[in-house]
Formats: sequence, structure tokens, C-alpha cells
Amino acid sequence: MDSSMHPYRSVLYIPGSKERALDKARSLPTDAIIFDLEDAVAPDAKAEARHILGEALRQGGYGKRFKIVRINALTTEWGLEDARALRDVGADAILLPKVNTSSDIDNLSDVIGSDLPIWTMMETPVSVFNAREIAAHAQVTGLVAGTNDLTKDLGCRTRADRLPLMTALQMIVMAARAARIVAVDGVYNRFRDGDGLKAECEQGRDLGFDGKTLIHPAQVEIANTAFAPTNSEIELAARQIAAYEESRASGQGIAVVDGQIVENLHVVAAQRIQAKAQAIAEMATE
Ligand code: COA
Ligand code: MG
Repeated sequence: MDSSMHPYRSVLYIPGSKERALDKARSLPTDAIIFDLEDAVAPDAKAEARHILGEALRQGGYGKRFKIVRINALTTEWGLEDARALRDVGADAILLPKVNTSSDIDNLSDVIGSDLPIWTMMETPVSVFNAREIAAHAQVTGLVAGTNDLTKDLGCRTRADRLPLMTALQMIVMAARAARIVAVDGVYNRFRDGDGLKAECEQGRDLGFDGKTLIHPAQVEIANTAFAPTNSEIELAARQIAAYEESRASGQGIAVVDGQIVENLHVVAAQRIQAKAQAIAEMATE
């Protein structure tokens, strides 16, 4: 799957041990799923979750949803067996937690081979300092902000404006953009607070994230709306492209739409909005 043509507005975590949730996800309108073997699964349930998840993925039925398996870190007693058991079950990517350097990714690659894309949790201060080299690794196609772990490691406070996390969030987005890969924002813990989630999704979108990781089905529609281009953005994009083509035809390099200049770079941004809208529309057709 070409990751650039897939939307990642909503990326839902599902505990790999919860059969009911694994089944429910087959009908949720989420763009991507993180099937979790790490923190959502208790230590004494790890082996069973590995088995249940392998069966669910082999069985399939997840349609166009991008399927990501989060294994335990290779430094734990479970990580290596997770990687071996889940590398051939049809996942679209393996998500590696607690990454610090690109050599952590090489270690996973040695186990799963070089064909299966790797996403990385960006959740340690060291990973944020190394974001550029991690994102630039040839096998890495997505970064996931791990805001709960970052908050813990930084010793910062949880604030509605996320000011203490801003440097890390922006470094994650910059690293992803420099490497032309996907970046998704961290989770919003108060999963029954729709207004709070909406505000945080909009903040993440404004920062440049492609979407948000989620923990509950009730969060999916809110993220899908926040990270989709709005109707007025789509409409403006079409008018900008048309106006620019017209001015080029008459020998000029710049057009004016709604009192603002439209240069080639604005056309590129407008085309990106159209491509995203198209990818979202295709997602809805099963
Ligand atoms: N993915 C898919 N389905 C989910 C789900 C998820 N993440 N979370 C809940 N559901 C399902 C439940 O199975 C239930 O389905 P049912 O109606 O068919 O029984 C339905 O959604 C309603 O669930 P609800 O009762 O509101 O939630 P809960 O109290 O059972 O669970 C959480 C709340 C937070 C424990 C649960 O949502 C969860 O485990 N989320 C994922 C946490 C996670 O993965 N963390 C790791 C990354 S931070
Ligand atoms: Mg974590």
C-alpha cells in the first residue's frame, strides 16, 4: 500500500487480547488500527494476546484500514517472539515502542526482514533528539507521538494547551516531513470528553500531523472530521488551481483569489488537499 495515498486521520489502538474489540474494529470507520501487544496488554496476558491477534489478522476482514502491529520492545522478554509471530500475518507495518536510535530499527529489521514497513513510537527524550535519523531510516514510514510516555519522562505537567510537549511534537512533525513519511499525534486520555478531544485534534492538525492515535471508538468520527479538509478548503483549492491555470495561460505566474496571491507553491498545497479528499472518499468505499 502506498502510504502517501492513504489517510491516517484516525489511528485506533486495540488491545491485542480483546477479541470483542478486535472484531468490532472490522466495522469502525477508522483509517488505521494499531493492534497492541505492548502497554494495553498485561504481562501475564502477553502470550495469549500474541496468539489471539495472529488469528484475527490471519482471518482478516479489516478492509482498507491500515493495519499496524505494536510489538513489545526487543529489550523486553516478549519483543523478539512478538516480531517472529506477527511478521507474516498480513500487517501493513510493525510499530516499535521505546525507540531511541536508528540502530533499534536495524535490530527489528534483522528479525522481520527489510520488506515490512516499520513505524516508531516517538516517546523518549532521546528519540526526539534523534527524530531526524529515525525518520530517515529507509524502512521507517511512520512516526507516532507517544505523549503519555513523553510526559512521564519529561516530568512535565499535563496541560490543555500541551505547551510542555510543543518542542517534541514539532520536532516529530519536522522529522516526518523532512523524510516525507507519516506523523500521527498522541492519544487524548479523557476518552469520554468529545469537546476536549476535538480541540486537541484541531491543535494536532494545525501543527501538521496527519491524524491522531485514539483509544476508544467514540473518538473516531471526531478525529476523522478534524483531520479532513473542510468543504471550504476543498472549494478554495479548486478555485486556486483554476485561477492559476488561467493566469499561466495568459502568460502570468501569479493569480489572485479572494484577495490573496496564488503562486506555484499554493497550487501544490491545493493539489495536496484534493488528493487527501480523494483518498478519504476512497476509504469510504469498501
Ligand atoms: N477498539 C475497538 N473497540 C473498542 C475499543 C477499542 N480501542 N475500546 C472499546 N471498544 C468497544 C468495546 O469492546 C465495546 O464493544 P461492545 O459494545 O461490542 O461490547 C464498546 O467499544 C464500548 O466500550 P466501552 O464500554 O465504552 O469502553 P470500555 O469501558 O469497555 O473500555 C477502555 C474503555 C479505555 C479500557 C478501552 O476503550 C480500551 O481498552 N482502549 C484501548 C486502550 C489502549 O489500547 N491503550 C494503549 C495505547 S495508549
Ligand atoms: Mg508508550
